[in-house]
Amino acid sequence: MKNLIQDLKQQKNAIILAHNYQPIDVLEVADFMGDSFELAKKAQETDADIIVFAGVSFMAESAKILNPNKKVLLPSLKATCPMAGMVNKEKLSKLKEQYPNASFVCYINTLAETKAMCDYCVTSSNAVKICNKIESKEIVFLPDRNLAAHVQEKLPQRTIIPFNGYCYIHQYADKKVFENAKQKYPDAPLLLHPETPLALYEYADEVLSTGGMVEYAQKSNANVILIGTEEKMAERLKYEFPEKEFIPLLKRCSGMGEISLESIYESLKNEQHEISLISELMNQAKIPLERMMKMG
Ligand code: 13P
Ligand code: SF4
Repeated sequence: MKNLIQDLKQQKNAIILAHNYQPIDVLEVADFMGDSFELAKKAQETDADIIVFAGVSFMAESAKILNPNKKVLLPSLKATCPMAGMVNKEKLSKLKEQYPNASFVCYINTLAETKAMCDYCVTSSNAVKICNKIESKEIVFLPDRNLAAHVQEKLPQRTIIPFNGYCYIHQYADKKVFENAKQKYPDAPLLLHPETPLALYEYADEVLSTGGMVEYAQKSNANVILIGTEEKMAERLKYEFPEKEFIPLLKRCSGMGEISLESIYESLKNEQHEISLISELMNQAKIPLERMMKMG
């Protein structure tokens, strides 16, 4: 299957971009792996004709919006992020009426129609940096209430108005699992993702994007690291740093789990499922995304 995928990539001048939550067999056929921001950057830089996205739909949509002339494929229509669907046009319009003087910042984990109504887009790696550069004091941040709280904690001079969305994987992190892991590995640092509720930060040595976790693992002298984000992140780290141990503390994201070698092969062979958005929507959604690419 891996050989067939490599052949198809060559024939079609295609690349595979894989999110850090993908398992090793998918990473082995990927041309690049990274966090949401790193993948968006790679998608902008490539001269491939086809981009296959081994991740969830908001990532593939963002790649398409930034590269309207390229064919962007998502191997499974079920590869979605539930948090992205928590906010919609109607809810956002109400907030815009309620906060006419605020800047609207959306997490990249949103649908294109949400991005099209916002001023700035951010990812977990640059949310604090970008919010700090925005002029208005009042910022409506959506959809993740936990990332919003993280930004508020780092930028007390701003008023962050959170939307009430969340990621079910990070929201329902179990503190008992953290406590047991800390007891079993007392010297191991514990890394959390900023989609985690602030109440759990007391267990964290660092709060990082998935790309930040890769960087941390590279620099750290620790032989064992506790990974407080989606389950497969530990596998991704082991793939790059086989001499270290990474202990996963959270569950598998079902949207990410929709991607497999088989679905990637079918996607490349049949050029399915192509991301297609109306050009007016893409032009609007491109504004906050391009601001992020410049500021992030
Ligand atoms: P990163 O941008 O940190 O990879 O996060 C994406 C995501 O969906 C986390 O759950
Ligand atoms: Fe969405 Fe959470 Fe899955 Fe990330 S881990 S893609 S935020 S559901």
